Amino acid sequence: MSGRSFTVEVMHGVNLDQLGRRDPLLYGTLTLPELEAQIERQAAELGLGTRFFQTNHEGAFVEHLHGLREDADGIILNPGTWTHYAWAIRDALEIAALPAIEVHLSDVEHREPWRRVSVIRDLCFATISGRGPDGYVDAVSQMREQLDRGRG
Ligand code: DQA
Repeated sequence: MSGRSFTVEVMHGVNLDQLGRRDPLLYGTLTLPELEAQIERQAAELGLGTRFFQTNHEGAFVEHLHGLREDADGIILNPGTWTHYAWAIRDALEIAALPAIEVHLSDVEHREPWRRVSVIRDLCFATISGRGPDGYVDAVSQMREQLDRGRG
């Protein structure tokens, strides 16, 4: 590991503050603070700094994306159900113009048909779903590789 350090913003959307109370078969048993601590550790092992954000308010999620350019080098985001319809979040992610990875704990491709739609997918260089908390391990390592490539 070498060069300047990078900071990754990890953003969780609506209802993800309720992890630990949601269906464990779909979402596992970790609470959001436990999941964030795990992500922070794994990212630190790869030399990535992390910042975390969660809200249940779509406008707050949008405004957080607006402010990110100065503070983060990449975004790992799980917008929850907003993923499937929130075009304002898609536009804000485009404005943020940072490398982004979409993560879902559950396997959104094999649940209800409406969960197969993602309004952010084509703005993300990778999508990881159905791997539970391990999906974030993949996300931080793919982000590390992407940021290293970007540094050229
Ligand atoms: C989710 C999948 C969404 O469909 C759902 O609405 C969520 C969580 C996931 O992590 O599996 O709230 O994004």
